[in-house]
Amino acid sequence: MDAVWQSLKEYFVASRGVSGGDSSARRRSLTNTQFWTERTVTNHHVFVSREESLDYLDWRNSCYLFYDQFLPLGGHDGLTILDYGCGPGHDLVGFAEWSKPRGLIGVDISPASLAAARHRLTLHGRLPLQLLRIQDGSRVIPLQDGCVDLIHSSGVLHHAPNPEEILSEFRRILKPHGRVHLMVYNYNSIWLHLYVAYQRQIRDGIDSDLSLAEAFKRSTDGPDCPISRCYRPQEFLALATRCGFQGTYQGAAISLFEMSLLPLRYQALASQRLTKEHREFLKSLRFDEYDRPLYDGNVAGIDATYMLTKGGAR
Ligand SMILES: C[S@@+](CC[C@H](N)C(=O)[O-])C[C@H]1O[C@@H](n2cnc3c(N)ncnc32)[C@H](O)[C@@H]1O
Repeated sequence: MDAVWQSLKEYFVASRGVSGGDSSARRRSLTNTQFWTERTVTNHHVFVSREESLDYLDWRNSCYLFYDQFLPLGGHDGLTILDYGCGPGHDLVGFAEWSKPRGLIGVDISPASLAAARHRLTLHGRLPLQLLRIQDGSRVIPLQDGCVDLIHSSGVLHHAPNPEEILSEFRRILKPHGRVHLMVYNYNSIWLHLYVAYQRQIRDGIDSDLSLAEAFKRSTDGPDCPISRCYRPQEFLALATRCGFQGTYQGAAISLFEMSLLPLRYQALASQRLTKEHREFLKSLRFDEYDRPLYDGNVAGIDATYMLTKGGAR
């Protein structure tokens, strides 16, 4: 295994639970707050310089093809920006460096992540930064009505017990012409149909006793992650509409890990144990000029991105 692939693998182990042989004997029951305090997406790494912090952000973004174009961190000058579920501050760093925000607010349930974000952001100069801890499941985000121009939330709502309440709070705290940029896990992905349904459950016998949804939950951020869901685009857009938003599906970023699994689809298609739904998904894939797999014309990656604006009056 060469050094680049080794470090990628370490990244996916740290942040996306590509752990391989987790057995049912090791299943632990943690609260969301316990889990996200024990584990952060930077694996508790302490950054020592601005260059190291930026290099890591660049590398993280490049692990998901075109991720930074779907959820841009630059070009938001003069705005008050909330990063909801900011973790140890990846995207706050990007906003600090590539936008000139009027205000930058990070909210998270994890004290460990907030402490890491606070330290990391000191490497990026003086900023109008506010970091707030929220309780998991809280029905209220402690910010005033209509005070935020841009809400960014990457990889968070699918881990929360109450996504509908959080989206309703987003609507309350957003200015009338504000926008929400979101990433949630994608059902229509290589991750779900090839990695979970075939590689883990059939080929490697991992979580083969569990439903697809449960097996998916244990595959993304580590086997102990208490909540991890994925949505079909139409399901997520319907949820956003129920919360008073008009939503647009922006497309999905695909991880290099998913790209590396693509040759496995032939073995998967040859397996009699793979159910028809997954076979049909894999058979229908087409490929674009970057070799990204397309399902129904859209990139079949794990990171589905959306843009929401306030809909009509509620
Ligand atoms: C996969 S990490 C993503 C972190 C960051 N957004 C990033 O892209 O690097 C998920 C984050 O969501 C936070 N989180 C989980 N449930 C939450 C909730 N109900 N409200 C706010 N943050 C939550 C976790 O503490 C964790 O930092």
